[in-house]
This record gives sequence, structure tokens and C-alpha cells, in this order.
Amino acid sequence: MATGGQRIVEDVPAAVLAERIDQAAAALRKARYVCVLTGAGISSESGIPTFRDALTGLWAKFSPEELATPEAFERDAKLVWDWYESRRRLLREAEPNPGHYALAELERRVPKLTLVTQNVDGLHQRAGSSGVLEYHGNILRDRCTLEQIVADRSEDSRNGLPRCAACGGLLRPDVVWFGEPIPRGPMLGAAAAAERCDVFLSIGTSSLVYPAAGLAETARHAGATIIEVNPNVTELSALAQFALRGPSGRVLPALLAAVAD
Ligand code: APR
Repeated sequence: MATGGQRIVEDVPAAVLAERIDQAAAALRKARYVCVLTGAGISSESGIPTFRDALTGLWAKFSPEELATPEAFERDAKLVWDWYESRRRLLREAEPNPGHYALAELERRVPKLTLVTQNVDGLHQRAGSSGVLEYHGNILRDRCTLEQIVADRSEDSRNGLPRCAACGGLLRPDVVWFGEPIPRGPMLGAAAAAERCDVFLSIGTSSLVYPAAGLAETARHAGATIIEVNPNVTELSALAQFALRGPSGRVLPALLAAVAD
């Protein structure tokens, strides 16, 4: 994956937002196939900081690009593991928020829905979404660096680094780092969904990181209606017919209620 760019805030009066929600809901009611792409923003109301918010505390001096790369892991596996362990601890205390639950419910309200997430936190599945395509992997899984498969941990952890129970190889988190390819299944599934959907919902993502950001462009070129849920203007905003400016934990339940009306 690759990245670049910055964010701008747009103030939208409540009445305008309500009108846009109604219009977006009308598009969703007519849709036969909905593709949803989520990013870090949807989990921020569960207490998980987004990637491009400043890292806090101990990690303030690092950027995600310095920690989430194969080169960083080769240089200092212990540093990278310490960062991932701190994120896992945060995640163990986190719960899905109303935005996650609204998407799980939306799946039951439309004929077909594919949910693609860039998030590695598993919160969509915990909220009840099914068939989630994990574009960037899952932080709660370990992968063996020798066998390249999801693996269990050995009791033996030399130098404080986790080892594979089967072969003793060094483990890494089962996530996609900068410069690495997207896993084949989610990549193909997401591409097909973007190509075939009639509504594409982009939620809580800066739309800076490719190839995920390209899914909305694919959908737009194929004629889909693009709905964006984000408090801020993003790289995608110019392509979106409906920009719903607000936190997803509030906007998505309102959108779901309007769809159900
Ligand atoms: N509701 C909706 N959107 C929100 C909220 C919220 N409550 N809070 C913040 N946002 C928006 C921000 O305005 C921003 O556009 O969420 C977006 C988060 O952007 P990023 O931090 O760039 O996260 P994301 O787009 O998911 O990053 C993509 O980059 O570092 C990699 O692999 C990592 O999957 C990640 C990828």
C-alpha cells in the first residue's frame, strides 16, 4: 500500500446534513448491491486513535510509516512488536460503537452488501457484520515469517520476541505493512464489489492509502453513487454525490433510520 496528502474541515449546518442523509438513504433504498469501505475513523469512537491523528504518549516520536513497514521490522522487531502489543492492549478494552452496529444492521436491510475494511481491529465482526473483507489483515492474528501462514505462539519467546509454535520462526502481526501487497482473497472480492455495486459507501477513511482508495474510483467509473461519511473533507470528497459530514457513530444510525423510514 502507498500514501500521501492532508485533511480539511468543512462546516455543514445540521439541516443540510439531514437533507443529505435523506437523499443518501433514498439511494440506498433503491440499491441492489452496496459496497462499503471503512477506515480508522469508524473505530475512533470506540477509543482507537486513527492513523493520521498524532500518535500519543510513548509513540509520539514515531509515524505509522516508520513502524508499519517490513524495513522497520527488520531493523528493530522488538520496537515494532512493542507498538503492536500496545495497540492490542487498547483493542482488548474497545467495544464496537453505534457506527459498527448500524452497518451490521444495514446488511440486513439491502439485498446484497459487501463490507471491505482497512481496519485490523475485528470490530465489524464483533458488531455482527458477516463476510467482512479484511483488506489490511487483522492485528489480533500472528503470522509466521518463515511459513507465511497464520500461526500459534510458542511458549518460548527468545529476546522477548514471539515464536511460531510449529517451526520456531519469528512471528509478525498478520497485517499489511506499507509496501506490501493486499491479500489475494480480499483484494479480488473488493475489486469485484466496487465494480458491480450501485452504491459505494466510504466511511472514516482519509482515502490516501492505495489500493484501498482506488476502490471508490472504480465504483464511480462503473456508475455507482458515492456516499462519504467523514467529519472532514478527503481526497474522495470531490467524487462523492453525498458527503455526510459528521462522526460515523452519529451519522450511520441516522442514515439507517432514514433507510428504514
Ligand atoms: N467518524 C468518521 N470519520 C472519522 C471520525 C469519525 N468519528 N474521526 C475521524 N474520522 C476520519 C478522519 O477525518 C480521516 O479522514 O477518519 C479518517 C482516518 O484517516 P486515517 O487515519 O488516514 O485512516 P485510514 O484512512 O483508515 O488509513 C488507511 O493507512 O496507516 C495505514 O494501514 C493503515 O488501514 C490504514 C490505512
